Amino acid sequence: MPYQTIKLSNFRNLVEQRLEFSPLINIIDGKNGSGKSSLIESLYYLSVGKSFRSSKLDSIVQHNAPGFTLFSVTEDDNSHQHRIGITREKNKSALIKIDGEFIRSAIQLASVTPTLLIEPETFELLDGGPNNRRRYMDWGVFHVEHRFSEAWRRYTKSLKQRNTLLRRGRIDRSLLAPWDGQMIASAAMIDQYRHDYVVSLVPVINDILKLLNQTIDIDISYYRGWDKKADYQSTLNDSIERDARSGFTHQGPHRADIRIKANGRFADEVLSRGQKKILIFSMILAQGAFLYKLSGRKSVYLIDDISAELDIDHRKNVCSYLEKLESQVILTAVDINSVLPLFHEDTELRMFHVEHGKVSQVN
Ligand SMILES: Nc1ncnc2c1ncn2[C@@H]1O[C@H](COP(=O)(O)OP(=O)(O)O)[C@@H](O)[C@H]1O
Ligand SMILES: [Mg+2]
Repeated sequence: MPYQTIKLSNFRNLVEQRLEFSPLINIIDGKNGSGKSSLIESLYYLSVGKSFRSSKLDSIVQHNAPGFTLFSVTEDDNSHQHRIGITREKNKSALIKIDGEFIRSAIQLASVTPTLLIEPETFELLDGGPNNRRRYMDWGVFHVEHRFSEAWRRYTKSLKQRNTLLRRGRIDRSLLAPWDGQMIASAAMIDQYRHDYVVSLVPVINDILKLLNQTIDIDISYYRGWDKKADYQSTLNDSIERDARSGFTHQGPHRADIRIKANGRFADEVLSRGQKKILIFSMILAQGAFLYKLSGRKSVYLIDDISAELDIDHRKNVCSYLEKLESQVILTAVDINSVLPLFHEDTELRMFHVEHGKVSQVN
């Protein structure tokens, strides 16, 4: 669902303004500190109701302003327009409206526009902690399996209750049993959905690596968060005392992870920095490709500072992949000349220039 129009006010350094995007390629250039990442962040916020940079609201709201507002008009696959509005004031929870109706959970927002983000921190996917990889995997599971978010909600709710009992030293099995029961049922679903997603995604990643002229062939091993030989029930039972000592549950889907192998070896250990980056690009692009293949839904691609991340050859391959997608791409670069020449001259694209938080379309 491409963004047609967005309106923003008091979001980071961006001045109050209205922008009209192309449903295809959009390139935004501007000097360091002009507001490129802030614009990408505002679009991301519109798509999931939260930021990727800082969870501290104070740092997102423009200095000295009481709060920010974001508004967008998007168009769905049936050419119907949808309006999304987000108002966030300090010390208050977010008010989110879709088509004039307040929604209770940002989860509803996330299903409106599947949005894939590539920004500097994305490149911690292989080397960083498992959180990033779970978020990566769950983006896909969320969009392809509609029962996932409910299973996940039930799981985390029971996990919280279980941990509270453990911290209070209430380790009586009969007290824990109802929460364990909920966790076991939801864990089985979460595990199945994640496993199936990862298995189906691997060939798509490999296809994209080939399209990007890479000779890397990858495989992903999925770790479900507890011993693959034990059932979750006995895992929970066996670890009660250890869990009680630490005050939290050590094993379960909240500890799931994936490990990526390239040509049979762990990717984080054998690939060069450049190879890792193009692999991560391929992994993210594959999520959009797989969602499209499965459901016909197109994703929006937000790519911040592409030239800082990819050298010219890789950039060229990625840009020619992106222009064939016929999806909305919003990408930023310090220097427009580092990307513009990489697109075919017939490609319909819209250019913008940012200066001191003001984004202007360039003709
Ligand atoms: N809450 C805020 N209010 C006002 N300005 C901010 C806020 N947060 C960050 N900035 C400023 O916004 C500017 C743009 O940042 P950023 O979007 O990251 O720039 P770019 O990605 O173009 O290099 C920076 O100068 C930064 O100091
Ligand atoms: Mg930036």
